[in-house]
Amino acid sequence: MEPAKKRCAYVSPSVLGADPLSVGAALDALPRGCWERLHLDIMDGRFVRNLSFGPAMCAALVKRYGLVDAHLMLAEPDVLAQDFVRAGASRVYVHAEAAPQLLLGLLTRLRSDGVEAGLAVAPLTPVEALRFALPFADAVLVMSVTPGFGGQALIEGSLEKARDLVRLREVEGYGYSIGMDGGVNAENARRVAGAGCDLLVAGSALFGAPDPAKYLMEMAEQTRENFVS
Ligand code: DX5
Ligand code: ZN
Repeated sequence: MEPAKKRCAYVSPSVLGADPLSVGAALDALPRGCWERLHLDIMDGRFVRNLSFGPAMCAALVKRYGLVDAHLMLAEPDVLAQDFVRAGASRVYVHAEAAPQLLLGLLTRLRSDGVEAGLAVAPLTPVEALRFALPFADAVLVMSVTPGFGGQALIEGSLEKARDLVRLREVEGYGYSIGMDGGVNAENARRVAGAGCDLLVAGSALFGAPDPAKYLMEMAEQTRENFVS
């Protein structure tokens, strides 16, 4: 039997989980050695029943913290994707469900703009439906809750989805990284990383913890040197 592979995963703080009145202070309190990229949810009230941030917030976060991943939960991602490129996002995720007929063009455009092309997938969309888009993606974001709101419980089947994506990547020789978004916390972080995820997005569990800095260190500890099962 082939030995299990050892790999690291990283936690990406989700800005949506922070108190909107003190986002900067909440982020400044997180030890920089434990995180690299921020996760910024962009919602339009149409693709999901919620509103969140826009390009100005993205630009401000880029200026202060560096790498920002913009997760577009927009019914018409083609209308605003370029605004987030201009705002300095280093990766832009577009939902497979939002504009299927535009998806490959959008991912291609992001790459040619020098931004990582991200493909986000909602819980009810099977991996099989993504097959033709996977070669165009630098990163795949498995949504492990219904898109639109923080604070939900992780849907367990999402781990199998991540494992399927790992297998496909190996078989087809694709180069995408895999992220998990929704309901990730210190209790399930090791299992999520063990399913092959490279990036663990954490919002409400992290910022809702009594000591977010300590909580992040705990999560980081659990996601290092996991054996992919
Ligand atoms: C939900 C968002 C998530 C959210 C995760 O639609 O995409 O990024 O911030 O939040 P938690 O960690 O609270 O599930
Ligand atoms: Zn998100």
